Amino acid sequence: MLPQARAHAAAILPYNVGARLPVLSDRMEGSMRHLFAGLLLTLSVVALGAQDRGLSSLPTETAAQKEARLKWWTDARFGMFIHWGLYAMPARHEWVKKYERITDADYQKYFEQFNPDLYDPREWARQAKDAGMKYAVITSKHHEGFCLFDSKFTSYKATNTPVKRDLIKAWVDAFRAEGLKVGFYYSLLDWHHPSYTIDRNHPQSPANDAEFDALNKGRDMAVYRQYMKDQVRELLTNYGTIDIIWLDFSFTGGGRGKNRDDWDSVGLLKMVRELQPNIIVNDRLDLLDVPGGWDFRTPEQFKPREWVTMNGQRVPWETCQTFSGSWGYYRDETSWKSPAQLIELLIETVSKGGNLLMNVGPTARGTFDGRARERLAAFGRWTQLHGPSIYGATQAPDGFKVPANSLLTYNPKSNRLYVHLLAWPMGEVVLEGYADKVKYAQLLHDASEVRMSTRKSTTWISEDTRAGDLVLRLPILKPDVEVPVVELLLK
Ligand code: GLC
Repeated sequence: MLPQARAHAAAILPYNVGARLPVLSDRMEGSMRHLFAGLLLTLSVVALGAQDRGLSSLPTETAAQKEARLKWWTDARFGMFIHWGLYAMPARHEWVKKYERITDADYQKYFEQFNPDLYDPREWARQAKDAGMKYAVITSKHHEGFCLFDSKFTSYKATNTPVKRDLIKAWVDAFRAEGLKVGFYYSLLDWHHPSYTIDRNHPQSPANDAEFDALNKGRDMAVYRQYMKDQVRELLTNYGTIDIIWLDFSFTGGGRGKNRDDWDSVGLLKMVRELQPNIIVNDRLDLLDVPGGWDFRTPEQFKPREWVTMNGQRVPWETCQTFSGSWGYYRDETSWKSPAQLIELLIETVSKGGNLLMNVGPTARGTFDGRARERLAAFGRWTQLHGPSIYGATQAPDGFKVPANSLLTYNPKSNRLYVHLLAWPMGEVVLEGYADKVKYAQLLHDASEVRMSTRKSTTWISEDTRAGDLVLRLPILKPDVEVPVVELLLK
């Protein structure tokens, strides 16, 4: 086969197939070989057409391969998001520069004073681990453009502030040491880079087109694209194995937005996959329609009503959520979710086959504030006793009716079903249609037996029970856990 044809064919086919091509072709003889080469050439030409649009050049894989690559992550279910940057100092939203239209000159005071003297990422990692989280994703750079890491390509970085350290290096080491997988968030937006064009989300966005054009004179996205690539290369080269990358975000439609052409999303993602072949990538590069263009969907600050789908197929998903509304530390926010709401959020997410990425916005001194610590501790008290209903668990199989006021999860490996009781019942729970499905039931937190019956009671009170139903007999007193769980060992 012509070397170019082989190279093109390898580029357009899923990489596992491409890798096998030389072996196949070396074994082929005569006309078969020509026929095969011809077919590949045709494929290459077709693909080259698509490649002009840049979309077919990403490595793709089979559904089973993707499932295997994501397995640790779908089993993990629960991770920590960390939004930390200069915006922790104003402490009134990570978008403060945009919301208050702060100029670079006025924002500079934060850079000059950034000195998180209490920063101890080992302490963060311990808190994440104790909360039951299995991975963490930190903002290496947020929209403000400030880099927590030591980049060769900018001076706008932590090493040039009073803290004088690569904050990411210490973070990666600390989280790995606690056995957590690590990920980087990297903002596609950049409100500080001089070549980044002013768009509608930029702090300096003006009122009309003429002003946009005037402001954008001399700004050049090609320069910025190269900067991004250089920085992402640094992040994926200088810090060992990176398990997740979170690139945020595209805003298409509506005028003065930014899409995959602005970021060269395909080129960027290709590089990401080359540098870290097993990395898991979010979905905000504006490549939803491109095979291999994303690994998981990211519903933000809302609960999807069911397992997230694309073209009718269930897909991996992770909802990212905040404790109080903003992502960066916001001193005066009062809308903090209660521990019960948060634990229910985790359960509900897993009950629909998803992951939860729960955000903490550390303070400018480098600590988790008391309200965050309390909530992480509440997560920990619950997950410590209820791990089997979360890790490796997923949506219950069809055919298990969800009882009132509860959420179901299922662990396929152990064949156990988990009934999370959001409102503690008055002595019994009726599981409709479960009569022949369960061999044993217990409370998960203390492994105490839950007696079951399928027989109608002789008292009038249980008249409601129908053939096929299973009744769980529970104590009147709610156990001392936020959300009690009944573990059902299925037949
Ligand atoms: C949005 C916001 C951002 C936050 C992110 C988390 O894209 O712009 O502040 O980092 O959501 O998903």
